[in-house]
Amino acid sequence: MTASQEQAPEQHPARPPGRRTVMAAVGAAGLAAALSACGDSDGGDGGSGDVQDGTNGGQASSPGGPTPGSGDTGGTPPAEKPEGDGKVLAKTSDIPEGGGKVFASERVVVTQPKAGEFKAFSATCTHQGCVVKEIAEGTINCPCHGSRFDVSDGSVKGGPAPRPLPSAAIEVSEGSIRLK
Ligand code: FES
Repeated sequence: MTASQEQAPEQHPARPPGRRTVMAAVGAAGLAAALSACGDSDGGDGGSGDVQDGTNGGQASSPGGPTPGSGDTGGTPPAEKPEGDGKVLAKTSDIPEGGGKVFASERVVVTQPKAGEFKAFSATCTHQGCVVKEIAEGTINCPCHGSRFDVSDGSVKGGPAPRPLPSAAIEVSEGSIRLK
């Protein structure tokens, strides 16, 4: 009997450490749960992202065409220097005598200051890079801030442009004007 009475007190002191162990285990479990919760949310995002990717992939494949728009912009020639590839810009008869014509996509302006004399300049304004728009009364005019350039040599005739329009190389033959 005494042995059983002695055993009982031994069991009681043994339980509190057991509770602490359980509390510690719960704490660890809670921490683990918190960590795994973060992991779950990340995993969940990744999972939903995968689903969205799959959906987007399906949508992108059916219309098949946001990229053609960028292809169009790719067709725009680079600013500043006109590119010559031997392409026919115009017929000489398209260029008015004493005036000219702006080829915005090529960023070139072709003028005919005198009959049969053709000149070409960059159509990019030397002020802030707008494309010149019209030719009137002997000048090539920029619509942005009013710079004006001489049709015969591209020199500045008015406005804020600091420099003349650079010359562009053209070749005139058989009634056609080509970029060199
Ligand atoms: Fe041509 Fe300013 S960009 S006048």
